[in-house]
Amino acid sequence: MIIEEPMSQSQILRISFTTSRQENGAQSPGNFTIRQRLAVNMNEEILQFPQAYRQIDEATKLSGFTMASDVLTGALLRTLSSSKPYGHFLELGTGTGLSTAWILDGMGSDASMTSVDNDPQLLEIAQTFLGGDKRLNLVCADGEAWIKANEGKQYDFIFADTWHGKYLLLEEVLTMVKQGGIYFVDDMLPQRNWPDGHKQKVENLVRALEARKDFTVTKQRWSTGIVIAVKK
Ligand SMILES: C[S@@+](CC[C@H](N)C(=O)[O-])C[C@H]1O[C@@H](n2cnc3c(N)ncnc32)[C@H](O)[C@@H]1O
Repeated sequence: MIIEEPMSQSQILRISFTTSRQENGAQSPGNFTIRQRLAVNMNEEILQFPQAYRQIDEATKLSGFTMASDVLTGALLRTLSSSKPYGHFLELGTGTGLSTAWILDGMGSDASMTSVDNDPQLLEIAQTFLGGDKRLNLVCADGEAWIKANEGKQYDFIFADTWHGKYLLLEEVLTMVKQGGIYFVDDMLPQRNWPDGHKQKVENLVRALEARKDFTVTKQRWSTGIVIAVKK
């Protein structure tokens, strides 16, 4: 771990000045060291994890579940969740609750979240470690049945992490996103365990999202491959 000494305001100003001079071509070994020091914590280290994260992670490994979300994706989900302090959140594909824990960690105390999965054993793990959070409603249901039964509901944030809302019933789920709301998908970069035909499904999804006039879309070749779409 690298521990940086706190800098005074004058040090910060001096560094801003010297770095902008360097960008104009000025060279100074001393300044280069300062630049390195400034850049050194721009890495993918996550310093703060959700409280229940470690326990869920251990239980997930013991359960043999292999489709858990990436830590970087989780951290981004948490940051974006904080942008909707009173938001209604929907997660399609709870798994054991890892991504759920990240989202809850970003949510405000008055926000609420519904998370749906059809596997009761996975949900049991989420329930054990997150079930005490009053903001969370864990639902054991088939994705298709749940979406069809809840048509017309509106959410500020949807993390679609199962077939439905991603490769199936996309239109129905995008309709559930409020104006200004976020639709988020991960696992868009090729993975070794993809079954035959999955690559085409992913390409079709990305193309369909990019073609939409009612969402602004950003693709990120980072973590497992993220698409963030915000409804206009
Ligand atoms: C990629 S995993 C979710 C991972 C989870 N979000 C996490 O962070 O660990 C996909 C999930 O979809 C669930 N699933 C698969 N088919 C489903 C269906 N028809 N309806 C609801 N959930 C389904 C699986 O049980 C699995 O937990």
